[in-house]
Amino acid sequence: MADFLSAYSIQYWLESCPQGYLDETEYGHAPGATEPAAFLEDPELRAQAIQGTVQLVVGERCALAASSGLINAAPDEASKRYLATQTLDEARHVEVFTQRLYDLGVKKTELEDVIRTHANPNLVKFAEILLEKVDRKDFVAGVVGQNVVLEGMAFTVFEMMHAMNKGVNPKFAQTLSGTIADERRHVGFGENRIGSLIQAHPERKPEIERMQRDMSYYMLATFADAFRQAPSEEDRKRFRRELGADESAQWHGVNLATADPKDMEHVLADTVLREFKLRLGRIGIEYQTPARP
Ligand SMILES: [Fe+2]
Ligand SMILES: [Fe+2]
Repeated sequence: MADFLSAYSIQYWLESCPQGYLDETEYGHAPGATEPAAFLEDPELRAQAIQGTVQLVVGERCALAASSGLINAAPDEASKRYLATQTLDEARHVEVFTQRLYDLGVKKTELEDVIRTHANPNLVKFAEILLEKVDRKDFVAGVVGQNVVLEGMAFTVFEMMHAMNKGVNPKFAQTLSGTIADERRHVGFGENRIGSLIQAHPERKPEIERMQRDMSYYMLATFADAFRQAPSEEDRKRFRRELGADESAQWHGVNLATADPKDMEHVLADTVLREFKLRLGRIGIEYQTPARP
C-alpha cells in the first residue's frame, strides 16, 4: 500500500501536474498561443474542429461526473483522495476543451446548444452505461468503466489527435499532451486499485464484463459515425494545404495525411481494443467482444 499511497497522493499530484507539466500554461497551452488562422477562416475546417471538440467535452463531462461520484463510493481513504485529484483533472479537461470551442468562435450563450446538436448519440449512450454504475455507488464497476474503459479510449483518441495536430496546431497539441499525461495517471490507478478488489469479489466479474462489452459496442459505433462523417478527400487535401500539414506524419504505421477514413477507424479501434484486453487481463477481467456496430 505504501507505493500506492505515494503514487496517488495529493502531494504527488501537486508536484507532477500543477507544479510540473502545467506550470506556466494557460488553458493547457503556452500563454497567448492561438488556433491557426485556417480554423477560423475556412468554415468547413472550423465546423470539423467544433464537431470533434464537442465529443471531447461530452467525454470529459462524463469523466467528471464519474470520478466525483466515485469519491463517496470508494472503500478507503487513499482512493477518495486520489479521486479528488482526478475530479479536478477532469474538471480541467472539460474547461480546456470548452475553452477551445470558444477559441473556435462558439459564443458562450450558444455553448449548450452546440454541444446538444453535435454530441454523438452513441457516445452519450456509452456515458450513460458508466454513470448508471456510478449512481448506484458501484465502486468496482465504476472504476473499471471509468479508469479502464473510458480512459483507455480517451488516452488513445488523444494520442491520435496529438499526432495529427503536433505539426499544424502547437496550441491544441500542447493542450492534448497535458491531458494525455493526466489520463496516464488515471488508467494507472484503475489497474492498481481494482485488481485486488476483483480478486476479492469474483462474483462481480460477469456483470463487469457485460458492462465492458456494452461500452465497447457504443465506443465502436461512435468511431464508425465519426469516420463516416469525415470530410471528402478533396476537402481533406485543402485542409492540409491551408494548415501546411506534414505529409509524412505517421501513427501506428498509418500515414495520417493519406490514409482513408476507414483505415484510420480500423487502426484506432484496433489500438484501443488491444489496450483494453491488456489492461482488463491485468485486473483479471476477460475482454468480451461486442457485436460490430
Ligand atoms: Fe479526462
Ligand atoms: Fe481521466
